Order: sequence, then C-alpha cells, then structure tokens
Amino acid sequence: MLSATTELKHAQKVKEYLVKHNLVNLDFFPVKELGRIYFPILKKVKVPGAEVVDTKFSFPQKQHEAALEELLSKVLTKTELELLPHSQEIIGKIMILEIPSELQHKEKQIAQAFLKANKTIETIVRKSEFHSGVYRTRKVKVLAGKNTKETIHAENGVKIKLDIGQAYFSARLAHERLRIARQVKAGEEVLVMFSGVAPYPLVIARNSKARLIYGIEINPSAHQYALQNVEINRFGHRIIIYNGDVRQVVPQHFRGKRFDRIVMPLPKTGEEFLDVALPLVKKKGMVHLYAFLTEADINPEKKRITGLCAKRGYEVKILDAVKCGQFSPRLFRVCFDMRVS
Ligand SMILES: C[S@@+](CC[C@H](N)C(=O)[O-])C[C@H]1O[C@@H](n2cnc3c(N)ncnc32)[C@H](O)[C@@H]1O
Repeated sequence: MLSATTELKHAQKVKEYLVKHNLVNLDFFPVKELGRIYFPILKKVKVPGAEVVDTKFSFPQKQHEAALEELLSKVLTKTELELLPHSQEIIGKIMILEIPSELQHKEKQIAQAFLKANKTIETIVRKSEFHSGVYRTRKVKVLAGKNTKETIHAENGVKIKLDIGQAYFSARLAHERLRIARQVKAGEEVLVMFSGVAPYPLVIARNSKARLIYGIEINPSAHQYALQNVEINRFGHRIIIYNGDVRQVVPQHFRGKRFDRIVMPLPKTGEEFLDVALPLVKKKGMVHLYAFLTEADINPEKKRITGLCAKRGYEVKILDAVKCGQFSPRLFRVCFDMRVS
C-alpha cells in the first residue's frame, strides 16, 4: 500500500500537508515503527518532508478496528482489552496473535473475534515461543479458522509460500529486504547465506537487475519451499538455492568464486560465519551482516566487527548501521552494511 513516511518529529507537518491535499487513505490507521510514521495515502505524488513508498506491511483497517473492538468487548473487560498488543503480525492469510499470559484462558474467544473482524484472514494462530534452534523456527498453535500453517504471503512484488511452523519468516522485514535489493547494481552476483524460504533472493531478483542470486539454507523444509517459491515467481534463470550448511556448501560449490554482495541474515550467530563470507567477496564488494543490539552497543560493535575482520586480514568499512526491526523493547535488529577493501 502506498504510504508517506517521515520521522516522528515531522509527523504533524506531513499530516497537515496530506489532509490539506486530500491524500490520506481514510480507511486505514497510520503505523509507527522504529521512530518513523507511515501515513497510508491515495496517490503516488511528491510529499514535502516525506518519502513516498510502497509499504508492504498491513495497515490496521478502521472498519476492522471498530468491529474488532466491539467483538472483543464481549469477551474481555476494559482492563483486559488494554493488555492486547495493537498490531499483530500477518503472514499471507494467517494472523499470528501475541496473547499475554494473563489472557491465555480466553485465547480461543479472542482468536474468534480477530477472525470475525478480519475478512482477509483464514487462520489465527498463537505465537507460542521465540524463534529457536538452528532452523530458527517457532511453535505455533492454530486457535481459530482453517487448520493450516501453510500460506502464501505477498510482498515487494513476489509471492512467498511457507509453513510458518516449519520455516523462519518475518513479514516485518519486507522493508529491509527492499532496502537491500535497492542497493544491488545491474549485473551483480549476490549470495544470500541462511536464505530460508528465499525471501531475500526473490525480493532482490524482482527489485534489482542482479545477474544471479544464490541462496544457502540448512533447513530441508525451508529449502523445499524456497525451490517452490523460485518456481512460483519464475526466477529459475536467476536464483539458485542449495540445501546444506554454509560451511559445507561453500567449499563444495563456490571454490574460487567471488560475489559482489553477501547477505548474512542470521542475527544471533551470523558473525561466526564471517570467516566463510569474507574470502568470497570481490574487492570493494559488500557484506550485509545482521545482529541484535541495544542502541548503546551499536558503535562498540562496529569497532569490534571491523577489528575482527582486520584480524582475518580484511579491511572492512562499515558504511551504515541500520536499525531494521525490534526484537524486544530495547533490542534492535541491526544491519551493518560493510564494504570490503
Ligand atoms: C533468521 S532465519 C532467516 C531466513 C531468511 N533469510 C529470512 O529472512 O526469512 C536464518 C536461517 O538460517 C538457517 N541456517 C542456520 N544456520 C545455517 C547454516 N549453518 N547454514 C545454512 N543455513 C543456516 C536457518 O535454518 C534459518 O532458516
């Protein structure tokens, strides 16, 4: 959906401009994320002080909100209502409900209310845990609607099929994937380590003129979906995905090969694979390394990563450290955009 986005401090000015020029899409609420606000708008026009983007996350619908509040008020008290988080993650036709422990005894009724209020959703699941294990999967439990965990999610011009219990996927990273894709120059060869169901390779293929994009994924189930996704989106000529551990696939398939860009979307342990990634990058090539960090830790971490690369004999310049998601109130998902000399 089209939106005008700006930093929160400029929100009022941008809002006034949008209202004055009848540009606001009144069916939806604006969304605040990571210090920015996104106003849903009706037309692709220049908006002073804001960037107009094709936003891929879903905006809360006003109609739905009213209906939802009415339905929820039948099962929850006012105090209980306030405990429910406002924005819930939607992947394809599945809504992932985050239900606080105090309300778990009413989870089925809550799920039914969400299902009734949202006509585009077919299944409501409960997010039971954080992503865990090598495959970074999470346990989900179907609470209402169709008994399935498989769905097709649309973002950035591609379709992504997956089982949300069998493979990692976050709809909230759509913007970040597009940010990376927009940096890719014509003719580049890109390697996405830890490619999951292939959202990065697909979004890069659709939104850049990369020549070839490779992915490596250890989880066989995620890999099977990745293969299907390459087919569904007709990118068989531009995306090649390997199933296996990066440490084994690289020496097996990429001996002597160099990439223009390597994406490393494994925030918890990605840096442990820098010894594999760095020798694969062309001179002046880019590495996008993800980490979970507090605001205060970002600068010290930049120094540490640069030092770590230097120890391995690689001069690396961190061009940007981009906060691209929030793991917990204080912990951000940060991407270091690094150029390797
Ligand atoms: C945080 S998920 C990201 C998946 C995908 N890139 C995305 O953005 O949706 C990390 C992925 O790395 C995979 N993985 C973990 N260790 C790996 C390894 N040594 N080699 C290849 N893949 C690995 C996991 O199975 C998981 O799918």
